[in-house]
Amino acid sequence: MAEANRLHFNEEASTYDAKHGKLNERLTEEIRSRLDWIGVDWASDDDDSDEEVESKPTKPRREALAPYTTQSIGVDISENMVAAYNSRAENQGLSRDEMHAVVGDLAAADGPQPSELFADPRFFGFDIATVGGGLHHFAEPELAAERLVERLRPGGVLLVWDFLPHGPHHGLNAHAVIHHGLSEERVRKMFEHAGAGKGFSLEVLGSGLMPGHYAEEGKELPKRQIFLARGEKAA
Ligand SMILES: C[S@@+](CC[C@H](N)C(=O)[O-])C[C@H]1O[C@@H](n2cnc3c(N)ncnc32)[C@H](O)[C@@H]1O
Repeated sequence: MAEANRLHFNEEASTYDAKHGKLNERLTEEIRSRLDWIGVDWASDDDDSDEEVESKPTKPRREALAPYTTQSIGVDISENMVAAYNSRAENQGLSRDEMHAVVGDLAAADGPQPSELFADPRFFGFDIATVGGGLHHFAEPELAAERLVERLRPGGVLLVWDFLPHGPHHGLNAHAVIHHGLSEERVRKMFEHAGAGKGFSLEVLGSGLMPGHYAEEGKELPKRQIFLARGEKAA
């Protein structure tokens, strides 16, 4: 399944932002309006007036939390999604230390891959770890949550967005989707079991039309409910 995702998103990477632009903009707004709820000691939490943010040549628009963090490291199994992320960072005038992605799979059954890369101390001690629309693509979302929480500092926050349970998926990426959404109960247990159950909270953001996901003949395009969930690793 990881390989199906790699191939699918390698194909999608060049058009991904154009196809999902509205959803990404909406998610960015929803996430930025919840900085206190997410509960990290942000590098900046003043959306427009902070000097640190204004000193950047261009304020990052696509990565919701980039303006409030000092360093972001992305991980994706698709080489082309990683390349797109790194070009966005470069185009926004951000250095590798500020925003950079690597190819990898933290949720591989035989341990994070590539193992040598992820043994490096720079992949530990994060204030926040996030998965954006990824859990429903992973064979074992629970394992992914565990692997991410291992890399948080004590008191660090796990943040995810995904879909609540929905009907069968018909679309270009149906072969790369494993879970038809995740219930609040499942997500709560996932956070607790991974060690990030403290202060668990899940908010439903509302419905969103999904470009590239098609209705069955004679039926309406599917609407999905998106949730945002956060929890802390015990200090
Ligand atoms: C819906 S996309 C979201 C991408 C990104 N979070 C964003 O918001 O633009 C899901 C991503 O999960 C990645 N993915 C799927 N399975 C993976 C795995 N086992 N390990 C790492 N990344 C994976 C895909 O390559 C894809 O880029």
